[in-house]
Amino acid sequence: MFRAFLEDIFLFFRSVVGVADKGGEIPLSFIPQEIIDEIIARNDIESVVKEYVQLDKKSGSNMFGLCPFHSENTPSFSVNTAKNFFYCFGCHAGGNVIKFIQMIENLTFPDAVLFLAKRVGIEVELNDDPEVRKKHNYYKQMSACLLDAARFFYKSFIDPGAKHVKYYLLRQRKLSAQVLTTFGVGYAPDSWDSLSKYLYAKGYSEPMLIELGLTRRSRQGTRYDFFRNRIMFPVFDHLGRLIAFGGRTLGDDEAKYINSPDSRIYSKGNCLYALNFARKEKGAFLILCEGYMDTISLYENGFKNTVAGLGTALTPNQARLLGQYTKKIILAYDSDPAGQNAVLKAIPLLEKEQIECKVLVMPEGSDPDDYIHNYGKERFSALLDNALPALDFRLLLAKNKASTPQGSVNILVYQDLATDILSGVANAVVRELYSDRLAKDIRVSPASIMEVVEKKRSREYAERPKKERSPIPRRKKSFVLEESAIAYLAALVEDNSIVYDAAEEVKASDFQEEIRSLIEELLSSAKKGELTFPKLLNYLEKADSTLGLKERILPYFSKIRNQAMRSTKDFADEALRGLRISRLEEEKNTILQKLEGETSQEIQTELLHKVNSINLTITKIRNEAGNE
Ligand code: GTP
Ligand code: MN
Repeated sequence: MFRAFLEDIFLFFRSVVGVADKGGEIPLSFIPQEIIDEIIARNDIESVVKEYVQLDKKSGSNMFGLCPFHSENTPSFSVNTAKNFFYCFGCHAGGNVIKFIQMIENLTFPDAVLFLAKRVGIEVELNDDPEVRKKHNYYKQMSACLLDAARFFYKSFIDPGAKHVKYYLLRQRKLSAQVLTTFGVGYAPDSWDSLSKYLYAKGYSEPMLIELGLTRRSRQGTRYDFFRNRIMFPVFDHLGRLIAFGGRTLGDDEAKYINSPDSRIYSKGNCLYALNFARKEKGAFLILCEGYMDTISLYENGFKNTVAGLGTALTPNQARLLGQYTKKIILAYDSDPAGQNAVLKAIPLLEKEQIECKVLVMPEGSDPDDYIHNYGKERFSALLDNALPALDFRLLLAKNKASTPQGSVNILVYQDLATDILSGVANAVVRELYSDRLAKDIRVSPASIMEVVEKKRSREYAERPKKERSPIPRRKKSFVLEESAIAYLAALVEDNSIVYDAAEEVKASDFQEEIRSLIEELLSSAKKGELTFPKLLNYLEKADSTLGLKERILPYFSKIRNQAMRSTKDFADEALRGLRISRLEEEKNTILQKLEGETSQEIQTELLHKVNSINLTITKIRNEAGNE
């Protein structure tokens, strides 16, 4: 019962602070209903639908056209202009204009609201608080700065001085001018500081240029450009907002690619390259590849349903983001040991999001771009058709691992590796099917393979609870605690003055031991009003073991930025409420444990009394949240 309650708190907390939330979503509860109503009213459904569907046949206040959500030859898709909704008599899709945009643009509800707001020029952030205004203006300037940088890169790309760059992309890499424009590809000239000078002259501040990773400062104190003599790939978020750059060297730099650092408007583990295009594709699956060039090359060849990670291993947040758009992914990573390992790591993350995974098998050493270059798009399409289910791929790798370079398989090793894999498969039918196949492959009886698989499985079962028994509940508890503390810390960086309101509330002891001294430093720096975002990054870089604090704290900055109606202070208050509730929970847990072993009825009553009063306090704190 207690566990269930903890889960409850966790869910509650998720919904309030957005812990482990999907990337970049604006908490809709903060867009007031009046504004949503205005957005619906100003987006006349007929004109919105007509941007996607040809409507002509008219009957009463209904207009008809071919349904965009299922295939048909006679129009059964209707728009009722009097009642402002759409409905399809064939597939029964229907709803208001927001629902229509959700379906046709493949957007979540909040994103569809923003999409329509933008369409009619409504600004969704309508906060009068000057502090919030200031912050929003800063973020807007950051976006404008990135756009100016992209224009600069584009101009230097079309400049006659960059002929060699065009030759490289158009001739050697066989890309069309059109696809390069679609992706906004540009060129960072071979100069020390031309971009920094340009942006500085336009009035962007140095700290901003540094946070965006466009400018760096040398030891001698001179400003220089981070991206020099590189092909520039702008990175857009899923709504097409420019958030970062990747740059490929044209010279013999040690780093083939360099990328914008994480900033308050970019967190690479939460984004996917080209998702702004791919999410619009209505196909059955998405292709996930490794690189900018692979993505663009696939797009050029008609595979527009392609996305790429941004230079890091696939993260759980990226997997979650993908899960919003597709239930099937074909992994097309480089066909080398690094790529194969990355695939093995990505598969469980994707499967956790209920995404079916297949793996593209290409000749050793090539990537999708090489393959299309060498064999053409028809053969690539055939590769997609023949992509291996994830389990087959893992078994194939096991077999390779058990083989000599000459290709002879060590049956015992293969059998051991393969039954290890099969014993981890949850579905019994699948286990049996694959055990059968393995048996045929190595010419032994299916029954004996099945026996090994089931034995390994039950052994794994027997071991599992032992391993998990004691540490899990404790970790879970402190995880909740720590997450709200991290949210609070982010708010603190945004607004150092918050520390005074809660000097007693947040302590280093709220964090895991390994990072307590770091937290002490951060808190004392904030107390002096000196904790800036770049400084936070510095601290995080310096600390040897930050337990992934950097990855965990960064998403909160976009959270704070995206909350339309609330100030940073509100956000911090909520985090504090979460902390308080977690502490009360912990206290209650101790009491409940005592209660279990207690025989005296008197003491039992007393303990129950305490539990009740803690419950009341928790409810009170929750109500405070509701009243804001
Ligand atoms: P081309 O050589 O132009 O075809 O690029 P590629 O996509 O084949 O390159 P590669 O397979 O080496 O890299 C794939 C992706 O990994 C790139 O798009 C980058 O995001 C990332 N990457 C590659 N090299 C580096 C590097 O040196 N540093 C960082 N941070 N990322 C890299
Ligand atoms: Mn390549």
